[in-house]
Amino acid sequence: MNVEKDSLHQETHEITDLILAAKEKAYQETDDTPEPELTQSVGWPVECTVGPGLEGAIACETKIGYVNGGKGWLVYGGYNIFDLCAYSNYEEVSFLLLNGRMPNKSEFTEFKQKLMAARHIPNTLRLMMGFPVQDMNPMASLRIGTNMLRQRLTWRDMAKAKPSEELAVETDADAIDMDIPQSGQDHATYEFKRGHGQFNKPASARESQDDAEGMDACIHLISAMSVLTAAISRIRSDHIPIEWHPELSHAANLLYMMTGRIPTPVEERIMDVALILHADHGMNASTFASMVVASTLSDIYFSVGAGIAALNGPLHGGANEMVVKMLKEIGSPDNAKAWYAEKRANKEKIMGFGHRVYKAYDPRARILAPLAEYLARDNVQARKLYETAKSLEGEVIETLGKDKKIFPNVDYYSGIVYTCLGIPDDMFTPVFAVSRTAGWTARILEYIENNRIFRPRAIYTGGFVTDYTPLEQR
Ligand code: ACO
Repeated sequence: MNVEKDSLHQETHEITDLILAAKEKAYQETDDTPEPELTQSVGWPVECTVGPGLEGAIACETKIGYVNGGKGWLVYGGYNIFDLCAYSNYEEVSFLLLNGRMPNKSEFTEFKQKLMAARHIPNTLRLMMGFPVQDMNPMASLRIGTNMLRQRLTWRDMAKAKPSEELAVETDADAIDMDIPQSGQDHATYEFKRGHGQFNKPASARESQDDAEGMDACIHLISAMSVLTAAISRIRSDHIPIEWHPELSHAANLLYMMTGRIPTPVEERIMDVALILHADHGMNASTFASMVVASTLSDIYFSVGAGIAALNGPLHGGANEMVVKMLKEIGSPDNAKAWYAEKRANKEKIMGFGHRVYKAYDPRARILAPLAEYLARDNVQARKLYETAKSLEGEVIETLGKDKKIFPNVDYYSGIVYTCLGIPDDMFTPVFAVSRTAGWTARILEYIENNRIFRPRAIYTGGFVTDYTPLEQR
């Protein structure tokens, strides 16, 4: 790509250089031909070999992104992930995912203004504070927050259906009094005061998009998710949520709202890269979960809620937190060999390794590893985590890498990066959700254009009972 590297990131070219070095190494280890069977239009029904967990199943066509697992490629809208991390930013990447092309200058300015406006969710935050966020799993809080954001949507649905206005509680237009007692039940009553949602559900995908399922809802979710995540982090550490800063980027705002400190250019840049890296990734479990919900013509807020729920699991986005826990348990690089030998003998899985699609080194880990090393230079604790991670990686690659093509995945180094950026361990997965909202919403929007409800089948291996035995005779 012919881009002056100084033009976009004046103060952070060391970061750009690390990304470009990772790109060069990746390109040396792979060739540049895509898989023909996965990169051209198919006729439906398509023939493919399906394994358990839908391994290998083709569910739809997409222009949003492509993962070549054999070669370790990740592509969004035609652009490879290394170039996007080296030259772009999360806002531009979100536009790319949602629109299938890069914005021009005026489109980009307008898009950023919309993202900024969508950060204004004071009443949703106020409602959040009525929940025991301190004691809840942060991903559960995020899911509740997403559900409360939905109120804007139901308001629109209601306006269409014209129900009586006093039935509605609109979270982001000061419809709820500010002086509701903190423990009051009204805090949780965010849908309909009398509990019957009488709005018209959209009958078709097109109608549902025209309503509030479209771009506005995507932008609302992308922005609001970062505000919610930061607020959850603050509340959990006994602080009051911080208002977003109008002059900061999406990445800088996320860190600022979480930590209360304006990040340095390097911190902002690395957060931005981490957001780009996690923005989309094919038909992964959380994306698929959100698409399944959307395919029923449920709305996009419920769909993103499903994505959050799926991402939470330790086999998916929850692994980033587990990795740091594991590295702390190992304690030092010297302990990695013995620790790993024991886990291997017990056939235990090593968090942050392996992937359903990648059978080569995950390009996201290629980028995150040197960034973790860079950030950990002046941080003794993080340095120890990084060196322990490197030592364990060597052991795993020597064995599982050679035998089963198991390499570090995106979650292996991201936790160390987040730690250096001042993000608490239990907020790693919510921060992942902040990034992935662009991918979830973009793929929902694309899929619903030619919607068909997801409905696979299962092989029944149970028996058939012909004589029903009444309970008292069993
Ligand atoms: N450590 C040790 N062995 C592993 C690992 C691992 N992390 N991952 C896979 N294997 C082994 C399995 O034991 C299995 O061995 P076998 O054939 O001898 O039975 C083989 O590799 C295939 O593994 P599966 O679990 O069947 O692979 P699958 O595609 O179903 O799972 C997954 C992929 C869930 C990511 C798996 O590699 C794993 O559990 N990794 C650890 C958790 C993790 O890091 N998750 C984050 C993934 S990235 C993301 O979601 C954002």
